[in-house]
Amino acid sequence: MSRQLFVTTALPYANGNFHIGHIMEYIQADIWVRFQRMKGHHVDFVGADDTHGAPIMIAAEKAGITPQQFVAQIAAGRKQYLDGFHIAFDNWHSTDAPENHELARQIYRALRDIPQSQGGSLIERRTIDQFFDPEKNMFLPDRFIKGECPKCHAKDQYGDNCEVCGAVYAPTDLIKPYSALSGAKPEMKSSEHFFFKLSDPRCVAFLEQWTQDGKLQPEVANKVKEWFTIRTNPDGTTSEGLGDWDISRDAPYFGIEIPDAPGKYFYVWLDAPVGYLASLKNLLDKRGQDYDAYMANPALEQHHFIGKDIVTFHTLFWPAMLKFSGRKVPDKVHVHGFLTVNNGEKMSKSRGTGLDPLKYLSLGMNPEWLRYYLATKLNNKNEDIDFNAEDFMLRVNSDLIGKFVNIASRAAGFLTKRFEGTLTQSFGEQGTALLRDIHAAKDSIAQAYDAREFGKAAREIMLLADKVNAYVDHHKPWDLAKEVANNEALHQVCSLLINAFAELSRYLAPVLPSLAQAVEAFTGNSMQHWNATGTVASIRPYQHLMQRVTPEQLDALFEPPAVVEEKVIPGGEEIAPTIGIDDFAKVDLRIAQIVNCEPVEGSVKLLRLTLDVGEGRTRNVFSGIASMYKPEDLKGKLTVMVANLAPRKMKFGVSEGMVLAASHADGTTDAGIYILTPWPGAKPGMRIS
Ligand code: MSP
Ligand code: ZN
Repeated sequence: MSRQLFVTTALPYANGNFHIGHIMEYIQADIWVRFQRMKGHHVDFVGADDTHGAPIMIAAEKAGITPQQFVAQIAAGRKQYLDGFHIAFDNWHSTDAPENHELARQIYRALRDIPQSQGGSLIERRTIDQFFDPEKNMFLPDRFIKGECPKCHAKDQYGDNCEVCGAVYAPTDLIKPYSALSGAKPEMKSSEHFFFKLSDPRCVAFLEQWTQDGKLQPEVANKVKEWFTIRTNPDGTTSEGLGDWDISRDAPYFGIEIPDAPGKYFYVWLDAPVGYLASLKNLLDKRGQDYDAYMANPALEQHHFIGKDIVTFHTLFWPAMLKFSGRKVPDKVHVHGFLTVNNGEKMSKSRGTGLDPLKYLSLGMNPEWLRYYLATKLNNKNEDIDFNAEDFMLRVNSDLIGKFVNIASRAAGFLTKRFEGTLTQSFGEQGTALLRDIHAAKDSIAQAYDAREFGKAAREIMLLADKVNAYVDHHKPWDLAKEVANNEALHQVCSLLINAFAELSRYLAPVLPSLAQAVEAFTGNSMQHWNATGTVASIRPYQHLMQRVTPEQLDALFEPPAVVEEKVIPGGEEIAPTIGIDDFAKVDLRIAQIVNCEPVEGSVKLLRLTLDVGEGRTRNVFSGIASMYKPEDLKGKLTVMVANLAPRKMKFGVSEGMVLAASHADGTTDAGIYILTPWPGAKPGMRIS
């Protein structure tokens, strides 16, 4: 039976680029999603940026831009990571999108307005005392209050715990507290907050059931169970049972305003998971599908992939919010551990500080190496896993390439040269038995994928590859190839090898989607369907499917960023000697309209521009930008020109000025050359000063 799956990964804070921990989570979910699709199940896989909260608001303020601009910049950087590592989200959205504002407010209203007959409202208002920054005019989150540790008297400690002696306390316990934002002495001020009554017997009863009926991994369920009996308060003391959850923050706050409560905003963690639904709704809207109907499907399974640090939110608050607002609750929460790099070394002189995913890609390292390596390490427990450079190189080079990819390269050459790429369909007794073994493992590998035991799946596949390699060593195709009399045997062995390789490629396709695609082109066998059958009839000439990792690449990957001791030389050349304003005034820069633009016959470099600078006539200007722009792209556009440059006679005619363009001093073509465009509002003839 075909399953209907709605799958998410945690929504990353939009305060920075992805790091390798994020990428690991996406790769884990992506492998699972791809496997489910190969099984013929329908999956909608969505993510989004988690945009709200005080830290992002403050970071934007520091950068001198609005929070909206700030998160838009982060969002613009996401695609290169996701594409780069073959992470195939169906949609990437934002918690600041209209869908999320609307859904969060709907959910809140539903919780607030539960009728008395059904137990009454789960939202309660309470006045609490909190530190307030009188200079910034805002309430301070704990992490923005600092002061002297009440235990060991270390200075400049955070409001919740001391990094020197490890003491845990409340911000009010700090000696000489100050605001980390302004340095001002914070004042105690009371304010009304909104609470979600998680301690209500309805919530407790629901969650005791929901968290213990198989939706969570056993070790996660056990940990959660403890929270029903005892919890730790912010000041280090403990209380009995689930506590109510403070879901409001006072203005100024970057978030969603609470309905009927001006100046009050939802705490970021209230609207963050709602972002899962908002991203899905946005996807369905784009497809013209009805969100409510989609969610009402009783067969729909909702799966969340998250890290172990955000379990409380996903196993208590989120299911309770959904349940008591009358919505579908999650079916599974899959918790993974943390990824450390080179044994969790934080700072190592030789290997740097971590693994930068973009640097990995920019070094030309194959994303599927990482996908494979992480797959070998992942299981369905929430254990931490370590990226170890030597181990990585070994697994990729000796297992993935040595055992698996080499099967194809060994057989393909003989088939192409000796048999015109055509395969026989008879594999001999041993070959047939081997192929049968490979088919027999299919269900067990499928089970491992479905259970997120990717390491187990990879091990089973590599065991099969070992069997194939033993078959190669026994039949020695390179020896068979020496005698024409062995032609038939050679044909059988090589044909078997390609068939075995195609089967194993399909088993690895959830992990190695791009390689699987290449194998599909190479063998003509479908890699899209887990249960695809059929043998390979012929192959195309073999092209390298995957290179080996080199130690140099790993050294470069972990090499600390070069310490800039020398002066930076911008754009490849020193800034020119200082001039006075009078010198500058001699250059007459004008806004020019490109009324016409044509290629120059006999020159690959130049374009001929006809420019209007509002003089009642046009000017002819040649510009060396033909490598970057097509004439029709420039026609009608505004640009900037030097209008008082002495005319210059060139091979193709007289140039009456010069358009401004940016380039790198070494003039390499791949650095490019870029003309300037004024902001809207500028008109031809305006002077630039
Ligand atoms: N914004 C919240 C999640 C909201 S979900 C409605 C958040 N963001 S985060 O950017 O800090 O983390 C996003 C995900 O990355 C979480 O699942 C987190 O556990 C995971 N990871 C962060 N660092 C990680 C590693 N070093 N290793 C593996 N996963 C890690 O929490
Ligand atoms: Zn201390």
